[in-house]
Amino acid sequence: MTNPRKFLLLILTGFWLLSSNSLNAKSVSVSSPNQSIVFTLSDDNSSPRYSVSFKGQLIIEPSNLGFTFADSPALSQGLAISDYQLSQSDSTWQQPWGESQFIRDHHNELMVKLEAPNNPSHQYTLRIRVFNDGLGFRYEVPAISQKTILITDELTEFKFAHSENYQAWWIPAQGWNRYEFLYQNTPFDKIDRVNTPFTVRNKSNVHVSIHEAALTDFASMTLDQRRPGTFKSSLVPWSDGIKVKKSGAFSTPWRTIQLANSAKGLLNSQLILNLNEPNKLGDVSWVKPGKYIGIWWGMHLGVNTWGSGTKHGATTQEAKRYLDFAAKYGFDGVLVEGWNIGWDGSWFSNGDVFSFTQAYDDFDLKAVTDYAKSKHIKLIGHHETSGSVTNYRNQMADAYDLYQQLGVTQIKTGYVADGGNIKRLDEKGRAIKEWHDGQFMVNEYLFSVTEAAKRKISINTHEPIKDTGLRRTYPNWLSREGARGQEFNAWGSPPNDPAHTVNLVYTRMLSGPMDFTPGIFNLAFNGLDAENRVQTTLAKQLALYVVIYSPIQMAADLPKHYLERLDAFQFIRDVPTDWKTSVALNGEIGEWVTLVRQDKYSNDWYLGAITNEFAREIKIELNFLDKDKRYLAQIYRDGDKADWKTNPYDYIIEEKTVSAETVLNFKLATSGGVAIRFKAL
Ligand code: NOJ
Ligand code: CA
Repeated sequence: MTNPRKFLLLILTGFWLLSSNSLNAKSVSVSSPNQSIVFTLSDDNSSPRYSVSFKGQLIIEPSNLGFTFADSPALSQGLAISDYQLSQSDSTWQQPWGESQFIRDHHNELMVKLEAPNNPSHQYTLRIRVFNDGLGFRYEVPAISQKTILITDELTEFKFAHSENYQAWWIPAQGWNRYEFLYQNTPFDKIDRVNTPFTVRNKSNVHVSIHEAALTDFASMTLDQRRPGTFKSSLVPWSDGIKVKKSGAFSTPWRTIQLANSAKGLLNSQLILNLNEPNKLGDVSWVKPGKYIGIWWGMHLGVNTWGSGTKHGATTQEAKRYLDFAAKYGFDGVLVEGWNIGWDGSWFSNGDVFSFTQAYDDFDLKAVTDYAKSKHIKLIGHHETSGSVTNYRNQMADAYDLYQQLGVTQIKTGYVADGGNIKRLDEKGRAIKEWHDGQFMVNEYLFSVTEAAKRKISINTHEPIKDTGLRRTYPNWLSREGARGQEFNAWGSPPNDPAHTVNLVYTRMLSGPMDFTPGIFNLAFNGLDAENRVQTTLAKQLALYVVIYSPIQMAADLPKHYLERLDAFQFIRDVPTDWKTSVALNGEIGEWVTLVRQDKYSNDWYLGAITNEFAREIKIELNFLDKDKRYLAQIYRDGDKADWKTNPYDYIIEEKTVSAETVLNFKLATSGGVAIRFKAL
């Protein structure tokens, strides 16, 4: 870099090219637009390594990059920086639906070519984008062989500086229960291998979350703590042990690092969406957010069965009863599970017998969809595969066509099977077991979404691949599970603890919408002392509609329990699922959070605040409201004697006229919450 004016310009715009201590070695850096995050790549000793600092503090020490392959030399050592390019970008794009309608994408980009000095075909490009809320980098590897390229390992590391100063919130990777574990909060020394988003905080209050964006045609990245504080990418393998199979040139998903100096900073970040490709589906006005009820909780409670018999939930008559309820109380859809043949016997391990086109005798699909049409409600389709994905694949076109003909525009899919137990048949018809998060299934999940899109059908995946922001590219991928949802309260041992949802917000929810299915009003269905019950107050169940974002939200309880508490049910009826804007106001990981969101179609705002097992007082300044307006605040809060264990039903509904200058104070009960609608006057 000889031209001093150019050098100055680059410093001002956030780029540096530095020469480092060893002879001929180079470093090149790129910072965030506000200069607080600096990513540096160095080729010291011919082994490319990167580091990251945040506000002058080193967060990621020089960490390895690269890959090993089955039949080609590793891309790791012997590579030097041979070229680089810098650019800046500042644009705003619009979401068809989401937490916020408009998203600003403001970043600096650095593209670095790493190449073996005496073998220019041995090379790759690292593309880095640094935003004010974090960064992503990805590998772009040219075709290195005519044959299929077999990746045997990814060498990317995240080596935390002063790792003894960190606490982490995590779930284990490649476990039997996929992503459905309770989150643990420990120092690093208790961690072996984790899933992402992996959220950590150090003693100087730097909050970091490691994840990935735009996971397509690749294996999911998990993080393996190889040495204290050094987390190495560990790709989930195929059944044959190979991590990723590629033909020709390929790019990896983005490896992402979110950085903030507060917990709420992580929530107010759009990093993952910004690193995904724009909508590939064209006009998606047929994708509809909304609220639904369903023939669902009764099965989890054991009141009904999915399978046939006297307790069968999915009968024509019952579906009509739900459709009537939906029409009367303003819901958009009714989910019906257990309608199709295959649920008899132990369906958990018997996905091969599912038919996705044939209904049980007591369920008349045509009559139900006709009735739904007459009520202007949608039947929400359901396909549980129990992980037998070839059986599903073979019927997919017929099943999606059938739903399309009948006006079903949303399908909940399910892949219940233990981790590593997805069953596929190979070309010779042999059964092969795969992971839910290996490359094979990454492609399988997306295939279902794109096949559905051809028929203007949206998908809500349960037992999914983790979210990496693909809803931007495929907006009909409305929601998914991918963590412990409400169902665990019915039968989980243990059920979800009071901290569960405040953990989710700062971990799982950083990746995208979740179909958690809130809104259980009959919290202690087996009695207050039973293991299986909901460990929250009723007000917290309402707050979850604002806190846990999803464009589709279920009112999960049995209709009769809503009829018993129509006053509290009003909040569920009112709350929208599509937003103009969303802001996290305060909170700490695993302790509490307050989120506010503005309705996309009115001037109303909604607030949800929740706490863990500790009662707490929170103060909320309403300065997010429009300065020129007054609002009627309809408040649903814990009563003075509320306590999740002994008195979860104590709630108070009250109204107050407020403005942007008002400050509200609330006392949240143990595992309590508050939900507010601010109705513009
Ligand atoms: C697990 C899903 O998460 C749940 O919602 C569904 O009811 C069952 N599988 C049956 O498909
Ligand atoms: Ca599940």
